[in-house]
Amino acid sequence: MKVNGTHTRTIWVEADQSVGTIDQTLLPHRYATMRLETADDAARAIKTMQVRGAPLIGAAAAYGMALAARQDSSDAALERAYALLIATRPTAINLKWALDEMMAALRNRPRAERVAAAYRRAEEIADEDVAIEKAIGKHGVKLIEDIAAKKAGARVNVLTHCNAGWLAAVDWGPATSPIYHAHDAGIPVHVWVDETRPRNQGASLTAWELGQHGVPHTVIADNTGGHLMQHGEVDIVITGTDRVTAQGDVANKIGTYLKALAAKDNGVPFYVALPSTTIDFTVLDGVNEIPIEQRGGDEVAMITGRTTDGRIESVQIVPDGSEVANYAFDVTPARLVTGLITERGVLTATREALAEAFPERKDAARDPAQAAE
Ligand code: MRU
Repeated sequence: MKVNGTHTRTIWVEADQSVGTIDQTLLPHRYATMRLETADDAARAIKTMQVRGAPLIGAAAAYGMALAARQDSSDAALERAYALLIATRPTAINLKWALDEMMAALRNRPRAERVAAAYRRAEEIADEDVAIEKAIGKHGVKLIEDIAAKKAGARVNVLTHCNAGWLAAVDWGPATSPIYHAHDAGIPVHVWVDETRPRNQGASLTAWELGQHGVPHTVIADNTGGHLMQHGEVDIVITGTDRVTAQGDVANKIGTYLKALAAKDNGVPFYVALPSTTIDFTVLDGVNEIPIEQRGGDEVAMITGRTTDGRIESVQIVPDGSEVANYAFDVTPARLVTGLITERGVLTATREALAEAFPERKDAARDPAQAAE
């Protein structure tokens, strides 16, 4: 998508084979790119959330493996890099998917060929994500078109949570791709952007990228969605996800579950958009089986922003001595999900629909009888 009018991806290879990316911790106040030179750099960038969002985490980890191979392409070095990278973020399954893809591409290859093969596979993973995100948009835009047709020219209000936009992917972004497609087709689409405490990815990232593309949007405090739904101000909710189970349960940024409950109570369709690399066919019961990342308490206790005289400052918002907890994700059970917008179409959130749409993944799927074990 666009940064200051120029088409930009979130990750790329520089002429010297280092990896370029956007430092997302500086947005929206400063747009700055950074270079990753080593697997350690990639791991640090993922952990500190300079790069974040499930598909981008996967692509960054893939490039991290290429950077590792550039330094040392031995089996031991690649395994070290794998272990380092997989430990960075536990909930986003794209991370494991991408690392496994890289290992499969490198493991049985002569050492002399590994560096080129690693960059090639990482590039493919990034390119594939762009194609997938675009396809998600082509399927998802139909949902917005249908609503627009019924509203006879009135604006279509989409509510989204966190940042599942192009900044969270390589381009387009799962939740925003349908929105960008709708906007580009001339549909009057408006986005309610949940601020998404504690890190405010909605307020700082989604609002920024929608603004860069000229999409009308309004940032709201996290607890506003239910009120808007009660008053008919939300036509559809579209979020992203960090992991979808084989039965359609959805892990996403903390607070997503509450939006799904409010949507159900108000008859508002609740869609989740995802590349199939986010589906974990080895897991069935999302609430009990998906590991939920817990992050440092400072993200809750502190808030960062720009002062009126232009300085970026962090301030403490809780009393000294108060305990804080920082659960980064929650799980929305499949029964609350109206549909999953994937690159192969809009699916019901069921085991049958997922298995039918992705038959090549069925070998990984677990028998539901095992769910209770
Ligand atoms: O903790 P983050 O910022 O990496 O979480 C991002 C989200 O929750 C997104 O909705 C998600 O990664 C899926 S969509 C790209």
